[in-house]
Amino acid sequence: MMLVLLGPPGAGKGTQAKILAQGLQLVHLSTGDLFREHRDRRTPLGLDAERYMARGELVPDETVVGMVRQRLGEPDAAGGVVFDGFPRTVAQAEALDALLADLGHELPCAIALEVARAELIRRLTGRRVCRSRGHIYHIDFKPPVIEGACDIDGSELYQRTDDALETVARRLDVYAQATQPVIDYYGACGRLCSVSGEGEPQDISQCLRAAVIGANA
Ligand code: AP5
Repeated sequence: MMLVLLGPPGAGKGTQAKILAQGLQLVHLSTGDLFREHRDRRTPLGLDAERYMARGELVPDETVVGMVRQRLGEPDAAGGVVFDGFPRTVAQAEALDALLADLGHELPCAIALEVARAELIRRLTGRRVCRSRGHIYHIDFKPPVIEGACDIDGSELYQRTDDALETVARRLDVYAQATQPVIDYYGACGRLCSVSGEGEPQDISQCLRAAVIGANA
C-alpha cells in the first residue's frame, strides 16, 4: 500500500502518519524528518536543506526527489509506505508516480487533512519535539508529564526553529501556493479523499483508517 498524507504545516500529518504506519505495518517516510536527520549529522544535503527550511521555503524538487528515490530503494519500503510531507509540488507528485511505476508499485492514493489556519498556528507555535526520536508534544494539547522531557525516552524536548511565528506564516503561504495544487492533482485523477484534522487525535486516526480502507477496497 502506498499512501500520501497531505495537509498544511501543523495539520497533524506526523502525528497521524506514525499511528497509521504502526497500525498498517508501513514505512513512515517523512521528508522533513529525513532533512532534519541529515542536518543533525551535518551532511552536505542536510546543510543545504537547512538554508531553505529555516526560511520556511521548499527544498528544491531535484534534491527531495533524489532523497526519496534512495529511501524507496531500501528493502523495507517494498512492503508499503506512508508519505508525510511529500509530495509538496505537482512536479514532486508526478515524480513519485513515475518512481513507483518504475519499481512496479501501485500509484498512491492521497488523503488530505483539513484544519483551519488559526488552529494550525496554535499547534505549530506550541509544538515541542523529542531530540532523540522525534516524538511529538504540544505545550497545551499534549504536554509531557515532566516539562521539557520526552515521556517515552526521557530525552530533551526542543522547539523547531521553523515553528517561530513569522516562519510559520511563511510556511502556510508557501503551502497555499505550491502544495494546494497537489491536492487538485490527486483529485483530478480520482485518487483523493479528505478528512477533518480537527478533534481528538484518536478520533481522527479512526476516520483516516476508514478512509484508507475505503480507498484501497
Ligand atoms: P515538515 O517537517 O514536513 O513540516 P510540515 O509539513 O510543515 O509539517 P509539520 O511537521 O510542521 O506538521 P504536521 O502536519 O506533521 O503536524 P504534527 O503532527 O507535527 O517540513 C519542514 C520543512 O522541510 C519544510 O518547510 C521544507 O523546508 C522542507 N521540506 C520537507 N518536505 C519537503 C518537500 N517534499 N519538498 C520541499 N521541501 C520539503 O502536529 C503539529 C502540532 O499539533 C504538534 O504539537 C501536535 O502535538 C499537535 N497536534 C496534532 N494533532 C492534533 C490534534 N488533533 N489536536 C490538537 N493538537 C494536535
